[in-house]
Amino acid sequence: MRVGILGSGVVGQVLGAGFLKHGHNVVMGTRSPDKLAEWAAKNPQGRVASFAEAAQHGELVVLAVKGVAAADALREAGAAHLAGKPVMDATNPIIEQPPVNGVLSFFTGINDSSMERLQREFTEAKFVKAFSCVGNAWMVNPQFKGGKPTMFICGNDEAAKRVVTGILDQFGWETSDMGKVEAARAIEPLCMLWCIPGFLRNEWHHAFKLLT
Ligand SMILES: NC(=O)c1ccc[n+]([C@@H]2O[C@H](COP(=O)([O-])OP(=O)(O)OC[C@H]3O[C@@H](n4cnc5c(N)ncnc54)[C@H](OP(=O)(O)O)[C@@H]3O)[C@@H](O)[C@H]2O)c1
Repeated sequence: MRVGILGSGVVGQVLGAGFLKHGHNVVMGTRSPDKLAEWAAKNPQGRVASFAEAAQHGELVVLAVKGVAAADALREAGAAHLAGKPVMDATNPIIEQPPVNGVLSFFTGINDSSMERLQREFTEAKFVKAFSCVGNAWMVNPQFKGGKPTMFICGNDEAAKRVVTGILDQFGWETSDMGKVEAARAIEPLCMLWCIPGFLRNEWHHAFKLLT
């Protein structure tokens, strides 16, 4: 699959390498190609370009930018380059403030979410929340003593969620579909929960699993 990744941070880099490992055709989007020089040297099959070129390239677009800048990055990518495509949203609406007793702060409230805001602005894009509630070290084919972890996804478009579920299968996850875009109100704060043991006790090696 042709994949356009918006983001030069650790998440973009890890997912970009993961998509390459699984045989996809990856273009990384950034405003600052220098940040990806090392990644490009290690991943010669991938290409580094602008947000717009990466989005245009992707049959699947991955959003992996700073939460506060998500809408700006998508505007720079261009709504027309996102139209009709699954946009896998790994972002979290974190405010740049120190955690309070290990708890991060968000710029969204409990009856709102970042992905709903993005879906309202970019009406033709098919957003699917995924990879937002686990640390980057465990995104691609993680190994846990407790077995295969669960990734919670949501989004309005069923076909887009099937595409993302296929990627999660490849990346070693089981998928739990929590429904439409409003479920991002529940999925995004799992990032806060995931980070608490890290900030309090420097424990970062875990993921969520839904038991039935
Ligand atoms: N770190 C993790 O383990 C983890 C795990 C799960 C989810 N997440 C979420 O994944 C996202 C990416 O996290 P990260 O740690 O990889 O990187 P990050 O430092 O949060 O974000 C870096 C990216 O944001 C872009 N950016 C920053 N300001 C911008 C602006 N004003 N306009 C457009 N783009 C802007 C940068 O663009 P340039 O490339 O142009 O510099 C860069 O691509 C975040 O939303 C985070 O909450 C992170």
